[in-house]
Amino acid sequence: MPLEKLNHMLVNDVESLKKEGRAKSPERIIVDFIPARNGRGPRYKLRNSTQEFLRMNSNSYLSLSHHPELVGAADEATHLFGVGPGAVRFIDGTYHPHVELENKIASFLGYSAAKIFNSAYTANCGLALAISNDKTYWIGDQLNHNSIIRAMRIAGIPRDNKAIYKHNDMDELKKCLEEVPGDMERVIIITDGIFSMRGDYAPLDKIVKLAEQFHDNFADGVITVTDDCHGTGAYGETGRGTPEFTGARPDIITTTFGKAFGVNGGAIVASPEVIEAVRQKADTYIYSNPLSPADCAAAVKAIEITERQEGKDRLKNLQDRISQFRQGLEDLGFESIPGPHPVVPLLVRDTAKTHQLVQHLFDNGILAVGLTFPVVPRGDETIRFQVNAAHTSGDIQQVLDALAGSKN
Ligand SMILES: Cc1ncc(COP(=O)(O)O)c(C=O)c1O
Repeated sequence: MPLEKLNHMLVNDVESLKKEGRAKSPERIIVDFIPARNGRGPRYKLRNSTQEFLRMNSNSYLSLSHHPELVGAADEATHLFGVGPGAVRFIDGTYHPHVELENKIASFLGYSAAKIFNSAYTANCGLALAISNDKTYWIGDQLNHNSIIRAMRIAGIPRDNKAIYKHNDMDELKKCLEEVPGDMERVIIITDGIFSMRGDYAPLDKIVKLAEQFHDNFADGVITVTDDCHGTGAYGETGRGTPEFTGARPDIITTTFGKAFGVNGGAIVASPEVIEAVRQKADTYIYSNPLSPADCAAAVKAIEITERQEGKDRLKNLQDRISQFRQGLEDLGFESIPGPHPVVPLLVRDTAKTHQLVQHLFDNGILAVGLTFPVVPRGDETIRFQVNAAHTSGDIQQVLDALAGSKN
């Protein structure tokens, strides 16, 4: 049994994670989807349960993944090009829908070029590989997503070439900029647009201004990068995300098609020069099969819908449901972090109570996520709710009623 010894060690590793409270629970398996009907949004069935669940934990903010136009576009692309690309992009794995999606996401966000990846995670890793050299200094927000932190490690950024500032603290960011070692030629400020555990946003307007202030101190300047995975499609007046909401234009955006757009895949959006460097240097792009043509065709359709009146109507319903939910939480005396994003945290500030409340919601047919230490600092234990455009006012009331019932 060649794996016998390794298996034993790995079981010990997982046991340690469990003891530290860092192990993931077993995964629930969705086995059925029940479309919206009678004033009720979609429901889901889980294996080994007859209950119909309302999802308050999906990133699919515009609720587009069952949209007939997306399904139709994916179907058509599959019939034309097949279910998989058959090769990486530079070995004739590039199909018309790949290029169409790159043009679409670039123009939607108002930039001149884009490169798509099979996820935003690999897009962040690819970006770090493409734009960093040994004279590059990275500055990031303390609460940046795991993919950014991992990207720094994969790109081999030395410890001395990076700094972290306290969450959204512009004084600390300024200090980091002032303290960049004198031999650095390029500085990159990287931040999430929306912080996924909290639903708050980075002040991109202030970040871009600070970057401009320090730009001429470095040979290649100060470049701003925003990972707007939770902003694109769901935030700002027309869904153009955190840059639209803050009125700022970061130099580079990384984003996903797997959240508001309801599909899958990631992208880097920037100048043609950055994008060509990504194509040439980002290993996670070069050596990995791209998205299927079906994913790309569906994502193009999702962006088209977001651009037209239907998308605006969906955003409007999303905003109305967010306001209803936030007001309801406040009326019930629950603590949250204010803001108009569909991520609505309920701060419980106690591990046992968080688990109890998640279980109470589950018993009432509601799926939500509890975040406890070490995912969040002790004392910040939270239930993360995510509102979607397909939620009805009855759905939101159902969640509020269940939360009210938890107080009895
Ligand atoms: C801020 C942020 N960046 C990147 C990702 C990764 O996105 P994807 O699922 O497309 O890899 C996520 C997903 O949770 C995220 O929240």
